[in-house]
Amino acid sequence: MKNILITGGAGFIGSHVVRLFVNKYPEYNIINLDKLTYAGNLENLKDIEDKPNYTFVKGDICDFEQMKDLFAKHNITGVIHLAAESHVDRSIKDPFSFAQTNVMGTLSLLQAAKLTWDGDFTDKLFYHISTDEVYGSLDNGGFFVETTKYDPHSPYSASKASSDHFVRAFHDTYGMPTVISNCSNNYGPYQFPEKLIPLFLNNIRHNKPLPVYGKGENVRDWLYVVDHARAIDVIYHQGKNGDTYNIGGFNEWRNIDLIKVMIKTADRLLGRPEGSSEKLITYVTDRAGHDLRYAIDSTKLKDELGWEPSLQFEEGIEKTIRWYLDNETWVDNITSGEYEKYYQEMYK
Ligand code: NAD
Ligand code: TYD
Repeated sequence: MKNILITGGAGFIGSHVVRLFVNKYPEYNIINLDKLTYAGNLENLKDIEDKPNYTFVKGDICDFEQMKDLFAKHNITGVIHLAAESHVDRSIKDPFSFAQTNVMGTLSLLQAAKLTWDGDFTDKLFYHISTDEVYGSLDNGGFFVETTKYDPHSPYSASKASSDHFVRAFHDTYGMPTVISNCSNNYGPYQFPEKLIPLFLNNIRHNKPLPVYGKGENVRDWLYVVDHARAIDVIYHQGKNGDTYNIGGFNEWRNIDLIKVMIKTADRLLGRPEGSSEKLITYVTDRAGHDLRYAIDSTKLKDELGWEPSLQFEEGIEKTIRWYLDNETWVDNITSGEYEKYYQEMYK
């Protein structure tokens, strides 16, 4: 019997990971620990909330006493750690909360696992979910590989880099079985509309300006979120103790090109003349410290563990756009109240 703690399971990627594990492994107990910050939403898990192998616990990874109690109460044998503050723009405004959640929160979980497992690491695993942003920024050539030197630039990526170092330190110092994966930008259903794709789709729907940072020339490498969840499943079960895996789909897009694809598809689905929403594109002041390009080489994951993305980008982005347009209530529920305040502060 495996009792797996998934942290941040009510967030964007976490909810897809929880869904996959709960459905695929009825013999596992899946415990979803989430603080339900602005980014956490139990609506994301409505379809699995009554499954007998699923338990939700509201809590804070920074609360060390609570984490120790949780490990003991549920006899946790594995951790998939996704809980984090995840938005670069918020990290620029409030770096402290990123250090607190991403660094201290990860340390609190590691220490709770260490004390609970008490040197008996048989069948135990601490799997930490990280980002390609820890590697810094690329010019127009090359890819991030697992051995690329860490070079974070934003408070977000610095806090994630720090948490990765703590995970490796627990492996090297205490012998804790760990694995880390660093993934590229995810897209798909249930992403909070502060990130590029859901934010722009919501603005297209409401005929609001689309705030493109700088000249729109920054490049991101996009992976469909369900393919990330599939990779996490493979790495959790087959990843080598102490190792690191990069996850990505070799799918680079300049922001402005991606935005035009979104506009074209959304216009078609909304019954508007094709390209008519391009008039909403508004170039705004660039993000401070804006990384130019991310690009992941995930050859190791393919060669060693056999993972490959299942979805082509064209199919994934169409599916995603349809989902946001078909699920207006989900978007409307989270863009009322506090969201408007955030939007005014960020984009005034
Ligand atoms: P998200 O912001 O959508 O979700 C984060 C979740 O963590 C939320 O449910 C939130 O309530 C929860 N949380 C925050 N602070 C917490 C705390 N102190 N205790 C317990 N729960 C807390 O984030 P996401 O986009 O789903 O990212 C999940 C993980 O994947 C993060 O670690 C992120 O760094 C990493 N990642 C994200 C991407 C991406 O493109 N979104 C890419 C690579 C890696
Ligand atoms: P984002 O979704 O915030 O992910 P990340 O910064 O972690 O890669 O942003 C993706 C890209 O889109 C990034 O280059 C910044 C850009 N962007 C905009 O141009 N305007 C926006 O309003 C947002 C949120 C992002």
